[in-house]
Amino acid sequence: VNFLVDKSRGEIVDNLLEGLRRLEYRGYDSTGISIDGDNRDETLIIKTPGKVSALKQKVDSMSLNRDTVFENHVGIAHTRWATHGQPEYSNCHPHRSDPNCEFVIIHNGIITNFRELKTLLLSKGMEFESETDSECIAKLFKHVYDTNMKAGIYLDFNELTKQVLYELEGSYGLLVKSSHYPGEICGTRKGSPLLVGVRTDRKLKVDFVDVEFRDSAKDGVISHNTQTQEEMGLLPVTPSESNLRTSQSRAFLSDDGLPMPVEFFLSSDPASVIQHTKKVLFLEDDDIAHIYDGELHIHRAKKSAGESTTRQIQTLEMELNEIMKGPYKHFMQKEIFEQPDSTFNTMRGRLDFENSRVILGGIKSWLPTIRRCRRIIMIACGTSYHSCLATRSIFEELTEIPVSIELASDFLDRRSPVFRDDTCLFVSQSGETADSILALQYCLERGALTVGIVNSVGSSMSRQTHCGVHINAGPEIGVASTKAYTSQYIALVMFALSLSSDSISKSERRKEIIEGLKHIPQQIKTVLSMEDKIKSLCDSNLNDQRSLLLLGRGYQHATALEGALKIKEISYMHSEGVLAGELKHGVLALVDDKLPIIAFATKDSLFPKVVSAIEQVTAREGRPIIICNEGHEVLAGGKALATLHVPLTVDCLQGLLNIIPLQLMSYWLAVNRGVDVDFPRNLAKSVTVE
Ligand code: G6P
Repeated sequence: VNFLVDKSRGEIVDNLLEGLRRLEYRGYDSTGISIDGDNRDETLIIKTPGKVSALKQKVDSMSLNRDTVFENHVGIAHTRWATHGQPEYSNCHPHRSDPNCEFVIIHNGIITNFRELKTLLLSKGMEFESETDSECIAKLFKHVYDTNMKAGIYLDFNELTKQVLYELEGSYGLLVKSSHYPGEICGTRKGSPLLVGVRTDRKLKVDFVDVEFRDSAKDGVISHNTQTQEEMGLLPVTPSESNLRTSQSRAFLSDDGLPMPVEFFLSSDPASVIQHTKKVLFLEDDDIAHIYDGELHIHRAKKSAGESTTRQIQTLEMELNEIMKGPYKHFMQKEIFEQPDSTFNTMRGRLDFENSRVILGGIKSWLPTIRRCRRIIMIACGTSYHSCLATRSIFEELTEIPVSIELASDFLDRRSPVFRDDTCLFVSQSGETADSILALQYCLERGALTVGIVNSVGSSMSRQTHCGVHINAGPEIGVASTKAYTSQYIALVMFALSLSSDSISKSERRKEIIEGLKHIPQQIKTVLSMEDKIKSLCDSNLNDQRSLLLLGRGYQHATALEGALKIKEISYMHSEGVLAGELKHGVLALVDDKLPIIAFATKDSLFPKVVSAIEQVTAREGRPIIICNEGHEVLAGGKALATLHVPLTVDCLQGLLNIIPLQLMSYWLAVNRGVDVDFPRNLAKSVTVE
């Protein structure tokens, strides 16, 4: 947003494209911008699937006059990581309310009640152009605006935004531009980040902005002011009788009291702002930032008790690379710590906790066919294979369909028989792994039904399968997969739950699992808080070891294999995941008082058998590290090297919590050994060769 700053259209477009380019590291599948036309009430939208370079080509090929100069201008831009609808033109952002672009929006997040909103808006005669959840926001803006105008009520842009937000459920980082409010923008967030960068040649007179509360009944609690922080301290918000627009509120003023040239940059990520300004203000959930006449005003969509009433303007000291990683040293560490959010995002809008139901839009219409299949074959590589192993048994229990699991390369090597009445499930973070794609083609040629469980929307796998579930974990950059594993695991459990939704005899079990899923994000947070303990365990006992065994059985066999893979991949320490029942058939020969062993002994029906495997280890002087639940201790005759307590959940979900200490352990072992954690030697994030 620029105010009293002469900028040519060319410069504005370049700024927007450059901002998008700075977000490329996050991964995306389509891009778009919206700017003003030569006429003040004309709004242009330019968008395309693909990379920012494709958008630039498109812009260049249009006969836009780059030299048109704007004194005030609002432009918006977006990169999309698809959640609802394929990455194709109609689904790209920005979305518009109507062909005249009265309201144009860009949105990050998921609107969970979009189906209801769409039904309502369709009934009001609105025509939808995309399959996205986001489009309903643009339409809703127009609907609310028109309804008010018909009643003779003209709303401020921020008031209008507030009314629209009343109707939205889900998460959003949202920007709105409108021909009804030229030169103005509203930005708001809930569960998705949004910040405002400020650039001006003059000294900012304020270094924080007061938050304005308006009770819906009494519209007019205004408390912006221009005092410096020293003069004013952190004053409580003072109620005002005024019912006017924020007339005396000027968040940014020049020293001489006159309007000053200023630019604002709203973004979900400082990476796209930092080249313009280091002065930023991070919005909080339910804030509405309204910018007009060169001023920033922050309103609250919803007032809640005890919340902070100021937003500090901060100076970013970080370098770009650091910003992308947030407070973390490596992407892998960031991704490990993102899991409370990423697992929640996998479930968002799909689990109805009240009615114990799962709705997976991408496979809903295929469920009757899948239920009739003769068997399910899960096919994947690496970590993705382990998520299949972790969930196979709950699949079989809930669906009563035989499930086999296959490593893609071995499946192809054997040219395993596949039939038309098989359902083949392909699990992949990238959706591009060559072995899995070849196996997919093999199954398609044999007429099987194929389902993708994929993170990268628009990837080969998500395009080529008949139907599927996007795990919505967000981009994963670290080569060693962490958050994709837990999200794949949850997506597969949700798949099994929806397949069995027609079985009355399984309803109690389904209820128990859905209730368990509800608590998983919070429980992951609890396990993450053990980082210091795990770190010191590495320092005291594991850093110098050459080898490590991991024992688990039942649900925890997959955890043992995945834990061992993590340790191998990034710390280069040899490690082996062993099915605890197989210990006595060979691996026991390795056990002595030196070899470190990690045993997964969380409470489930196999607990006594794991305890006996631990006893076999301690009887041979082995000193295991035991991962168990509080209150269900394993008394290893005082020989345990350490005990790590994880919260208890439903048996089939326990692996989601048990893997976290191993992710942290592999991370710290790698850091301590000086490995480039995000890019371990010889490995690639996406292996596109056979
Ligand atoms: C590579 C990665 C692993 C990943 C595997 C499967 O080997 O290094 O982290 O698990 O590929 O990748 P996919 O994208 O198919 O899940």
